[in-house]
Amino acid sequence: MKILAIESTCDETAAAVVENCGAGVKVVSNVVASSVLMHQKYGGIVPEVAAREQIKSIVPVITEAVGEEKETIQSIAVSYGPGLMGSLLVGVESAKTLAWAWKKPLLQVNHMAAHVFANWIMDEASKEVPQFPAVGLVVSGGHTDLVFMKDAKNWEWIGGTRDDAVGEAFDKAARLLGLPYPGGPEISKAVERVTPEMIKRFGSKYKLPRPLLNEDNLEMSFSGLKAAISKIVTGLENLDEETRDMLAWEFSNAVIEILINKTMKSVAIYQPKCVLLAGGVAANKQLREGLKLNVENSGVKFFCPELKYCGDNAAMVGAAAIISPKEVRPVDLRPDPSVTTV
Ligand code: KG4
Ligand code: ZN
Repeated sequence: MKILAIESTCDETAAAVVENCGAGVKVVSNVVASSVLMHQKYGGIVPEVAAREQIKSIVPVITEAVGEEKETIQSIAVSYGPGLMGSLLVGVESAKTLAWAWKKPLLQVNHMAAHVFANWIMDEASKEVPQFPAVGLVVSGGHTDLVFMKDAKNWEWIGGTRDDAVGEAFDKAARLLGLPYPGGPEISKAVERVTPEMIKRFGSKYKLPRPLLNEDNLEMSFSGLKAAISKIVTGLENLDEETRDMLAWEFSNAVIEILINKTMKSVAIYQPKCVLLAGGVAANKQLREGLKLNVENSGVKFFCPELKYCGDNAAMVGAAAIISPKEVRPVDLRPDPSVTTV
């Protein structure tokens, strides 16, 4: 069964054709246009600019993704939220129009769930697919959620952030350190520049707090870390490159330690067969490697999507529509900017 999937929740306009392949999902085409560079000079997403770019990109992106597949497409899937209203409208209305014109069923997909279902994409034929029950750690620019998945449809929210999302915290910390938007990849690059000699020389000079780490619950908090960085930076006469990279390193360590600690607490409580990492922040190498090590040491399987399926894309929307289909009448589908992960 081939599905045309559409994604337009934020600053990426994406379309993909996917099909089922055993228990997983195979990607036939995957096209992503991003307006991220246009937002760089503002240090964050400007919703109006993102929506205008969605309108410009949607037809060429869908046309390229469909290619020669039009006759083989059996249904249309679209992310209806969470996201920015102006951006969401473009994808949702396009999907509704195509479903009507091509007389195909329409499937609604929750964008955050789609990030998790990216773990079912099998670009390599040998890839195993996740088994339920599973715990998902969903980390993006707007969300930080721990979810317990009994099966493909029954999910329970079990923990997450009380304040900033992890991606948002990375972006804000990067901005305080004078690094460009989006901050996550820039902080990762700074971490790679830190040498063992620097770690020795700086010692614990810039030690940051680990909020809620030792509390016996699955709650997280990242806004205090940002405030702590701000205080250090304001107290410096000038922020030289080594100090900046050491602060990025300490910030990244603190965030990743919290994420790993809370995920492992959820593993102890819920005893899942696997842990699934998902969302834009899942592209972070230190998080991928650190969480994999901890999860596998506890005898549980670990999955994270290939890098190209971590950030916003439509292949993950198609994967969600195949593994957990939710058909909707076009007339009933509305964008929902604030729908939760479960
Ligand atoms: O899932 P996503 O592409 O969009 C949303 O749905 O929000 O996530 C974007 C977020 C941004 O905050 C970005 O800084 C973060 O993911 N991100 C990273 C990395 N790559 C992207 N954060 C940490 N390390 C990375 N390597
Ligand atoms: Zn996303």
